[in-house]
Amino acid sequence: MKIIIILLFLCLHNHFTEHALIDNKNNLTKFDCTYKDARFGRIDLSKVGLKHGIPAFRHVLKDDYFYSYNPCYPFSEESSCTNVAICQISKTGSAYYVLGLNSMVSWSITADGKATLVYSTDERQTIVNLACWNEIDQLDINGEYEARHYNLTLFSKCACWNGC
Ligand SMILES: *[C@@H]1O[C@H](CO)[C@@H](O)[C@H](O)[C@H]1NC(C)=O
Ligand SMILES: *[C@@H]1O[C@H](CO)[C@@H](O)[C@H](O)[C@H]1NC(C)=O
Repeated sequence: MKIIIILLFLCLHNHFTEHALIDNKNNLTKFDCTYKDARFGRIDLSKVGLKHGIPAFRHVLKDDYFYSYNPCYPFSEESSCTNVAICQISKTGSAYYVLGLNSMVSWSITADGKATLVYSTDERQTIVNLACWNEIDQLDINGEYEARHYNLTLFSKCACWNGC
């Protein structure tokens, strides 16, 4: 019994230390819903994402691909994009790629308060620049800036610090 408790303690301890290290290194919060910063305040994207498995931004065309994006709540399109945050679909509909998951994200905040979400999968990386905007929510696909690296901009009131 004692040994089990000690092992349990060691496991938990390792778990928390690892997380603390990751947090310090790249501000990894794991989730794309909300972020809190001591200098600028809070960003809350839970009103941008839709809750019922349909993406807030669906099939936005850029060059040869469509892009779908839903912050905060996962959605699915076809079998290749299951429970994802961002899906890329070829124009012909023959290929689907996962560009990001809601739970594999780091937040990057510049010194002047510009926020960027960085979604990483094993094969692809997508940055979503947050643009403070007081009109209807909008998603711009800026394109593939490097092989398998994608650049998006989300315009929303909720992208403003303390906006939502
Ligand atoms: C992480 O947060 C710290 C303190 O707020 C900041 O100085 C640093 O630039 C951030 N790192 C990234 C990658 O955004
Ligand atoms: C992403 O696109 C925006 C808008 O075109 C641009 O200002 C920014 O430099 C791009 N970022 C990267 C990493 O290419």
